[in-house]
Amino acid sequence: MKASLRTGTKLHELRREAEDCRACPLWRNATQTVFGEGPASAEIMFVGEQPGDKEDLAGKPFVGPAGRILDRALKDAGIRREKTYVTNAVKHFKFVPRGKIRIHQKPVTPEIRACRQWYEGELDAIKPSLVVALGATAAQSVMGKITTIGKVRGKILDTNDGVKALVTVHPSYLLRVPDEASKRREYRRFVDDLKVAAASLPKAARAA
Ligand code: URA
Repeated sequence: MKASLRTGTKLHELRREAEDCRACPLWRNATQTVFGEGPASAEIMFVGEQPGDKEDLAGKPFVGPAGRILDRALKDAGIRREKTYVTNAVKHFKFVPRGKIRIHQKPVTPEIRACRQWYEGELDAIKPSLVVALGATAAQSVMGKITTIGKVRGKILDTNDGVKALVTVHPSYLLRVPDEASKRREYRRFVDDLKVAAASLPKAARAA
């Protein structure tokens, strides 16, 4: 069997297993497990926090407002999303209902830890050259400890999993920046971080 076929099968099996995950209580209220998405041959893996409202319903990561910013920034950094693997540190939507609206809740450490088995499986199946952690929850999972984004942002780091990582902000942070000038500046910084990520990849993957 070709290596890419083997890793593809492995991912497929992992995704199926994750559908029935009961490792923490978040499965009870979520619509479904939102597993990662992208080719098993991806050289770069993006890790977000957890699916949001839209992702929970669609069963796909980063398809809502934060996903649209991520898509735009990837394009501006010269990265084709379809060549990347996109996933989340926590694979169920955590929320509190407020009338008809579901309000996002930040996952806590036991939930991040319980879900790490799936991230580890994805890492093992894909063996990317670089993992990009988007925001504090992703950074905690990828780095294996609470990590201050401002201290490590935009640098290529070593992890205990043996994979290189880069930590940057979560795209939804850019949605919350209040004024237009700061929004543009923060967006440019985000794209610059993604460019550092792209430049660290082996040449063949970069041109993809
Ligand atoms: N925010 C995330 O962290 N992940 C998603 O998939 C969507 C929004």
